[in-house]
Amino acid sequence: MKVDVFFTPAGVNPADVQGRSVAVLDVLRATTTIAVALHNGAKAVLPAGSTEEALRIAQNLERDDVLLAGERRSVRIPGFALGNSPLEFGPEAVQGKTIVLTTTNGTPALIAAHGAREVIVGAAVNFAATVQRCRAALEQHGDLVVLCAGRERQFALEDAFAAGRVVKVLLPQGGLRRVEVNDGALACLELARHYGERWLRAFKASAHGRSLAELGFRADLEVCAAENTYPVLPLYADRRITAHRAPIEG
Ligand code: MLT
Repeated sequence: MKVDVFFTPAGVNPADVQGRSVAVLDVLRATTTIAVALHNGAKAVLPAGSTEEALRIAQNLERDDVLLAGERRSVRIPGFALGNSPLEFGPEAVQGKTIVLTTTNGTPALIAAHGAREVIVGAAVNFAATVQRCRAALEQHGDLVVLCAGRERQFALEDAFAAGRVVKVLLPQGGLRRVEVNDGALACLELARHYGERWLRAFKASAHGRSLAELGFRADLEVCAAENTYPVLPLYADRRITAHRAPIEG
């Protein structure tokens, strides 16, 4: 069995993901927001790599059913209905809607997973569902990629910590003796050891967490850090992310 963690999509070649199961993590905030939107009744989330692409995708959809969402520098894109704060994606806003989403790091990471066997959209808010699907992939196919969105093509503490939480929970009895891991996974495990289950502490320590707080999104950190509050399994296939029933624990 093999688990590889990549800190950003920048270092990922198509061959790294081709035919493998990939869990994409952008816990602050894109993958959290996607889980919240789908849990709250959005029909689908369509990731776009740029503002222009988002507008193009939206043009081809029924106007009444579509919502444009996204951020640049963490702030809502002018003219878009929603930004990237999970607090904006309540049932009253998203029920029955198709959301076209473009974010700085999260949606490019999802797009970088193109060619994967399966793309799991993971966050703290759907942690159990994410881990359960990752475990199934590992058991059935013998390998897994955890792809962190990172920040501006650089390492991001919050995603690396989240990857460490995933890898730690996945390790079977016998731990690293039974699973081959890359150095990225080993480093993430150290972060998971350091922060334990304290998601909020890791988020507050991270550069992106501090920047969000300064921009007035402090409450988002708490939403993003609340484990298993949106138990949904978002899977990305055919350019759409849709909700799958979260598997029951145990
Ligand atoms: C991203 O995709 O870069 C993030 O989700 C940024 C944010 O916090 O809005």
